[in-house]
Amino acid sequence: MTLPRTRRRPSPTALAELARLATAARAHARAPHSRFAVGAALRIATGEIVTGCNIENASFGLSMCAERVAVFKAVSEGLSGFDAIAIVADALRPTPPCGPCRQILWELCGNLTVHMRTLGGRSRTLRLRELLPHPFDERSL
Ligand code: THU
Repeated sequence: MTLPRTRRRPSPTALAELARLATAARAHARAPHSRFAVGAALRIATGEIVTGCNIENASFGLSMCAERVAVFKAVSEGLSGFDAIAIVADALRPTPPCGPCRQILWELCGNLTVHMRTLGGRSRTLRLRELLPHPFDERSL
């Protein structure tokens, strides 16, 4: 398997729309244990968008982050060629993806643009490579 190539950055307008869809997806979050609802929206370079939200379980370790729900939904539908993900939560600072999500996103999506946004409108945009500067991937095997 080859690694997904680095892709062009989506426009600020496209990222704002992605954040709007992530915010809508957040409404479906199942977060009775942490009370921390997260929404994610993953964009395919063609413009198609797949969303996700976090889904928690009383057996805490089985809980799933919004980012992984979105990317697993997309891959299971045969989609590829992702260029950006938006992540929205109600926090003081924009919420970055957790370590396991960074690893999964790197392998399945490559060097995505990661747009993180609070409900209050604070945002930060980084490339996944900046969040995971020394990845473990097929080149490490
Ligand atoms: N969570 C996400 O869904 N995405 C993130 O980027 C950070 C954390 C979820 C996992 C758990 O359901 C809750 O937020 C608190 O950690």
